[in-house]
Amino acid sequence: MTSAASDQPPALADRFGRLLRDLRISVTDRCNFRCRYCMPREVFGPSFEFLRRDEILSFEEITRLARIFASVGVRKVRLTGGEPTLRAELPTLIRMLSAIEGLEVTLTTNGSLLAHQAQALADAGLRRITVSLDSLDDTVFRAMNDMDFPVRLVLEGIDSAVRAGIAPIKVNAVIRRGVNEHTLLDLARHFRGSGHILRFIEYMDVGTTNGWRMDEVVPGSEVVARISAEMPLVPLEANYRGEVAQRWAYADGSGEVGVITSVTQPFCGDCTRARLTASGELVTCLFASHGLDLKASLRDGSSDADLERVIRGVWSERDDRYSELRSEATRDLPRLEMSRLGG
Ligand code: GTP
Ligand code: 5AD
Ligand code: SF4
Ligand code: SF4
Repeated sequence: MTSAASDQPPALADRFGRLLRDLRISVTDRCNFRCRYCMPREVFGPSFEFLRRDEILSFEEITRLARIFASVGVRKVRLTGGEPTLRAELPTLIRMLSAIEGLEVTLTTNGSLLAHQAQALADAGLRRITVSLDSLDDTVFRAMNDMDFPVRLVLEGIDSAVRAGIAPIKVNAVIRRGVNEHTLLDLARHFRGSGHILRFIEYMDVGTTNGWRMDEVVPGSEVVARISAEMPLVPLEANYRGEVAQRWAYADGSGEVGVITSVTQPFCGDCTRARLTASGELVTCLFASHGLDLKASLRDGSSDADLERVIRGVWSERDDRYSELRSEATRDLPRLEMSRLGG
């Protein structure tokens, strides 16, 4: 039933009444970084078998699915990876997705290739971007990405995105106790007043390869207290229901920061996200052990109506809420890796 008040398609509800609004699409499982909390090189080394080209969804397949998701209420797609800018011809995909009515297209990237690609991405229709940057301390950052990749080139990438007209930009920093927590205030000072929105992310137990430990998590409340002691903060309302970041404004009006507290203050009750892996699995939770193979349906002649029925079925049956259930009992459950899921 379409609402007379708006042209927006009605959203699907899951078992807890959560609406499907966002789709995260991983366009590659490869990355040029080896962040230890995501793709530790002992696991993702030279002998690791990444997906073959024929196993990855084509742009046509992704766009077909995105159109179906939009028809059941999705309003935003976020392209992720691995590192999405490694996917050849990414601007072409952005152009294809941007043509879908009512759908906003966004991208989360490590920023390493942005200096070269920002203009082409903007020309293709990209208006919003999120860049991961865990520290401004070059030694700390080079160690965290484990590729000796310098801060300077990521900052140049952000500047290129601004010049290309992509703004405001969000900057993501994953904070690990004893690794980069001592540099978080520098990040806050640097981005305050820049117009960019810095978000501090609690280190999460995604996947099973990063050796996650609770004592390495710096609670978002602690991050807020530390920033606020030097640069007073006041809380802001969420921009939209299901936003994962808690927003805080600098009391002097010099911008905002956020914290993403999936570990200490889970937000499963408002979870509006589905995920599509690079190989075409539909996954509903970041901590899922498996997904549903949409690629098989895409390639066996299924109609759009068939695909829509499958998507409706998966979302309406969904009852996952891992972060709210996280405990000793969930610790050893199998989980997909971040680089396949795209966050
Ligand atoms: P916007 O709200 O559009 O800015 O996007 P976002 O913050 O959801 O996207 P981004 O890719 O920047 O993700 C920020 C962090 O939140 C990453 O660490 C994601 O893994 C995490 N995240 C995103 N969605 C979820 C979710 O549904 N559950 C959990 N637990 N974490 C999520
Ligand atoms: N915990 C928290 N955030 C993570 N990211 C990757 N792995 C983890 C993890 N284990 C972040 C990336 C990127 C976003 C998509 O997810 O740094 O900013
Ligand atoms: Fe690559 Fe992002 Fe994972 Fe780092 S966090 S290894 S940049 S996909
Ligand atoms: Fe949604 Fe799973 Fe994240 Fe909870 S842990 S917010 S259910 S993706």
